Amino acid sequence: MDDVETVLIEFDEESGVGTITLNRPESLNALNDQLSRDVVRGLQRLEEEELRVAVIEGAGEKAFCAGADIGGFSSDSSAERSERAAHTFVPEFPVPVVAKIDGYCLGGGLELALACDLRLASADSEFGFPEVNLGLLPGAGGVQFVTKLCGPATAMELAMRGEHVSAEWAAEEGLVNHVYPTDEFEEQVDTFVTHLAGQAPLAVRAIKKSARMAVQSGRAEGRRYDRQLFDDLLTTEDFAEGAAAFSENREPEFEGR
Ligand code: COA
Repeated sequence: MDDVETVLIEFDEESGVGTITLNRPESLNALNDQLSRDVVRGLQRLEEEELRVAVIEGAGEKAFCAGADIGGFSSDSSAERSERAAHTFVPEFPVPVVAKIDGYCLGGGLELALACDLRLASADSEFGFPEVNLGLLPGAGGVQFVTKLCGPATAMELAMRGEHVSAEWAAEEGLVNHVYPTDEFEEQVDTFVTHLAGQAPLAVRAIKKSARMAVQSGRAEGRRYDRQLFDDLLTTEDFAEGAAAFSENREPEFEGR
């Protein structure tokens, strides 16, 4: 299948499993508008096939996705503008989407994994919302997603501390469905996904709709609320300092302004 610019697309006719690979390994698959749009285009292409399950994974050895592309991030990147196409498209996509996480899964990357229906992680993976270290909050509804999935204390701990957490912790808190030993990861994911793809397709689609309906209520309002919070933070001196400190590879000094 033809690839689109920043993603690789594969479809296995026998199982009905389609795979989208985020393909910017040089920046640990950091999300920019292009990558997000390409995920959507990739899923649309897969939908033309007899797709039973879609898998999203990251290229390279190190990351699923290290979050928003900090290089392309500035105070004119309002949350609305940078509202990632993929984050809204994946939950609406009729076929189940599995995030296959092997390595860093941070910020907008974690939000993308959370937009997926199921999350499978290798034991070496690391999760986190580092936005607070830049003086921001996750801009695509991450705090709200985690609050619904794992409760407010887990969401606040992740987003306020801004530190990486282990795959084991993520599984204990319900952030991921399963963690597999790294040397068995490919095989275990394959078994899981192939089984899912063999289930009655219409029932599986209906189950996705049902579960999505249950968490849908208030989501649009919640995301608008987060977008406003995010946009307010983008104009602060703290964010300017956080972004400068990241690119200068030093600790930020936040003044609360
Ligand atoms: N945006 C843009 N580029 C990124 C990136 C991001 N979110 N995350 C990593 N990269 C780039 C690095 O700048 C580096 O590029 P270079 O080789 O041209 O210098 C490359 O990816 C490899 O990352 P590096 O930092 O060298 O790898 P590491 O193993 O030492 O550290 C991380 C990995 C994930 C801990 C670290 O890259 C990091 O903290 N990234 C930022 C995560 C973040 O804050 N995301 C949320 C943004 S809101």
